[in-house]
Amino acid sequence: MTFDHDSLELLAEALQSLERGFTSLPDAQPQVDREAMRNAVLAAAERLRDNYPYHHPFYIGQMLKPPHPVARLAYALAMYINPNNHALDGSRASSPMEKEAVAEIARMFGWDVHLGHLTSGGTMANFEALWVARELHPGAGIAASAQAHYTHSRLTAVLGAPFHKIAVDALGCMDVAALERALADGRVRTVVATLGTTAAGTVDPLPEILALRGRYDFRVHVDAAYRTLPFPFEEIAVPPLPMVAHWNLEHFLAYLRSWSATQRYIKAKGHDPVALVEPDLRAAWGDAARVREVRWQFHVRAGRT
Ligand SMILES: Cc1ncc(COP(=O)(O)O)c(C=O)c1O
Repeated sequence: MTFDHDSLELLAEALQSLERGFTSLPDAQPQVDREAMRNAVLAAAERLRDNYPYHHPFYIGQMLKPPHPVARLAYALAMYINPNNHALDGSRASSPMEKEAVAEIARMFGWDVHLGHLTSGGTMANFEALWVARELHPGAGIAASAQAHYTHSRLTAVLGAPFHKIAVDALGCMDVAALERALADGRVRTVVATLGTTAAGTVDPLPEILALRGRYDFRVHVDAAYRTLPFPFEEIAVPPLPMVAHWNLEHFLAYLRSWSATQRYIKAKGHDPVALVEPDLRAAWGDAARVREVRWQFHVRAGRT
């Protein structure tokens, strides 16, 4: 594959247009060593070749995708002035743009009344949502499933709020009965529902969680990093594909060691990460020869091109 080079002409044209807004100012070109810059950028390009091909439609193993080409160009253009949207008078153009973008996102959910802003990513978005939760209910607990992104337990610790880890069912979705038990004594006032967990791509049962609000008083924060992954194809429904194996402990350990992530870890660090958890696994397994049922869900997003 090749990358899009044509749009760089558009960037040059847009840059000239931007420049016309500042013609009254004296010239102030930063002094850069062009050769040093070239070397640095080419070295970066060479090293980036070793990354996973997140940008390619064949690669849908993670929620990472490059932005739309127009977003990439607009970002590069904005970097020439590096706006800071901290106050409306300091960002006369870019703050209204942010408000317009937030209104567009709210419209996607059918909301006319909304309040929000853009963040740098999921961690910051979660941090702010949990901060709001703590400010509204100081001292109250925040619950998220055992499969929720680790930001939730860490950020509640940063905020000094009690964290309640809710068990998941066999498919890795929040167990609503376990959630109800945690809500019953009134200590939990915020529930994080993950619509697409990082490790398994599973979706917490949001309608059932919302239904519990008829009986308990709590807020819901939806962490939806994964489902928003751009998927520019006509989606084909995929039936659930549970995988079941019957293994003794040696089989299970061999499976963990077969992961490419494990192999890459060994290559990078020179030791086996499975050995770190092996004593705990042995203790939990009991008789190592005992054959246990191991289940996991095979996740597929399929589309027609
Ligand atoms: C469900 C979920 N929440 C939050 C995050 C954190 O997002 P970011 O890496 O943009 O800070 C991720 C990232 O993997 C995620 O999968």
